[in-house]
Amino acid sequence: MERSTALVTGATSGLGHAAARLLAGEGWREIIVTGRRLAGAQQAAAQLAAENKTVIFTPLALDLDTPSSVQSAVAELVKRGQPIDFLLLNAGLVPFKQRVLTEAGVESSQAPLIGHHQLTVGLLNSNLLSLNARIVIAGAEPARGGVPMFKYTDVPAFAAKNHQGDRTAAVEALLRNGPNVKYVPNNAYADAKLIIAWWTAALARRLPSGMAVYAVSPGAATDTKVVRSAGLALRYLFIPIVNLIPGMNQTPETAARRYIQASKFGTDLSGQFFASAKGKFTGPIEAQRQPHLHDRASQEAAWQAVVKVSGVDLSPVKPASQSGPKPPV
Ligand SMILES: NC(=O)c1ccc[n+]([C@@H]2O[C@H](COP(=O)([O-])OP(=O)(O)OC[C@H]3O[C@@H](n4cnc5c(N)ncnc54)[C@H](OP(=O)(O)O)[C@@H]3O)[C@@H](O)[C@H]2O)c1
Repeated sequence: MERSTALVTGATSGLGHAAARLLAGEGWREIIVTGRRLAGAQQAAAQLAAENKTVIFTPLALDLDTPSSVQSAVAELVKRGQPIDFLLLNAGLVPFKQRVLTEAGVESSQAPLIGHHQLTVGLLNSNLLSLNARIVIAGAEPARGGVPMFKYTDVPAFAAKNHQGDRTAAVEALLRNGPNVKYVPNNAYADAKLIIAWWTAALARRLPSGMAVYAVSPGAATDTKVVRSAGLALRYLFIPIVNLIPGMNQTPETAARRYIQASKFGTDLSGQFFASAKGKFTGPIEAQRQPHLHDRASQEAAWQAVVKVSGVDLSPVKPASQSGPKPPV
């Protein structure tokens, strides 16, 4: 992969900020850093430039909850015409105690995937990812199960019970937190990260042969703002207890290094979900083998549901003679 242009979403704090700093240290020529508002992205870019004593950070406004903001970001990138070599889809959050829906009717912790899908598809349809681009999207250990206080939905069973076995409708219900979905914030987060793992596998099957995509859990790094909206039990009970156990927490830099590590993986690993070893939240990452993650019907249902909710899909493949940056549609 060329180390020319990287784009990091959610770079105003935490792991996105740390990843942008690490990429600068690795010699990337330009790092586009996004924030919901341009002012936030500009502030992050200025702070990173001061920390790294280099002016390679380009601010970009990107509110993943708002389709028009994603469209504007893609249009801005098309205008620049510089292909992106590494797309780091990091932005995300543990959701609020009370259910919050975006204006488009998407549950708040699911919304980043919808925006990230719009962004990724917009760039692919505009030929703005380089031929051997790497895409990394933030996952989390609850998607594989076995994390106290977080439980993902058994989608095949949920689909059978409420949607006549239609898994696409079932995933759409999870993305929208209804119908027939009881809002439990930590479970919504587990579902959001499970759908991300499935979407990653489905996207890998659709990418041009030189590109690759991986879902990567950064692991536990509680010294970020990730749980700022979460309930008291998670913030003041679960996390402090976990932090007392040696090896259960890591610095944002160590966590962000997992994204960078995955960006160097080969196309043979494309589509996989990498996270800590079973029972751990730190340490080396490994490809996750739990059968529910590899259920092809669920992966395809996740892709179709995200396409439906976002209203955006990949264009049919064009002959090579027609390639090159083009305006978004
Ligand atoms: N830290 C951990 O322990 C941990 C563990 C596993 C996975 N993760 C994942 O790692 C990623 C980064 O988390 P973090 O710990 O760095 O948290 P953070 O400090 O809260 O940073 C999250 C970033 O994402 C942005 N963001 C969130 N929702 C957005 C949206 N809808 N549109 C645009 N930007 C949005 C935030 O912007 P605003 O400030 O404007 O909201 C912020 O810049 C998340 O996907 C998280 O789920 C974190």
